[in-house]
Amino acid sequence: MDIAVETLIDQETLERRICEMAAELDQTFDGKEVRVIGILKGSIYFMCELTKRMKTPVTLDFLSISSYGNGMESSGVIHFDKDLDEPIEGKDVLLVEDIMDTGRTLSYLLKVLQERNPASLRVITLLDKPSRRLVKIEPWMTGFTIPDRFVVGFGLDYAQNYRNLPYIGVIE
Ligand code: IMP
Ligand code: MG
Repeated sequence: MDIAVETLIDQETLERRICEMAAELDQTFDGKEVRVIGILKGSIYFMCELTKRMKTPVTLDFLSISSYGNGMESSGVIHFDKDLDEPIEGKDVLLVEDIMDTGRTLSYLLKVLQERNPASLRVITLLDKPSRRLVKIEPWMTGFTIPDRFVVGFGLDYAQNYRNLPYIGVIE
């Protein structure tokens, strides 16, 4: 892919904010184990950077649900591609998302996960585009609130490309 990428959030700014978030999480969980759930594939970079800075004991699990096609627009179709490996009943759960956009993905997921009776269920997202929200839902913690631009990098893709950019960029 050869499209110009403009930096929106640079590496240093990302790292600083993620350190702050990890410290806040440590305060919240206060030494109690937390099950961190990454939503594949977009959240993996954020999940790694976040959890390795936490002192809270964590266990990791992943799930995959698709809500986007290979373009920039939501397909409106949500599909469960991979479920969790472990039950979450009685666990303090932290659901890690790369970006919250319309909120459709998360509202669906939260409903499904809540039915499994976790002790608590919180959503942390690296990025939030609140201006695009179609479902009334807010993350528990947000890294950066961004304008309505299509972003890539740090896990986020455009047609599966650009995920490994070490910063958040905008493509036009
Ligand atoms: P929602 O269901 O509309 O909130 O969509 C959330 C999902 O859409 C995210 O997990 C991303 O995979 C994808 N997404 C939304 N906005 C962007 C973007 O600007 N860049 C890349 N992926 C995005
Ligand atoms: Mg995606």
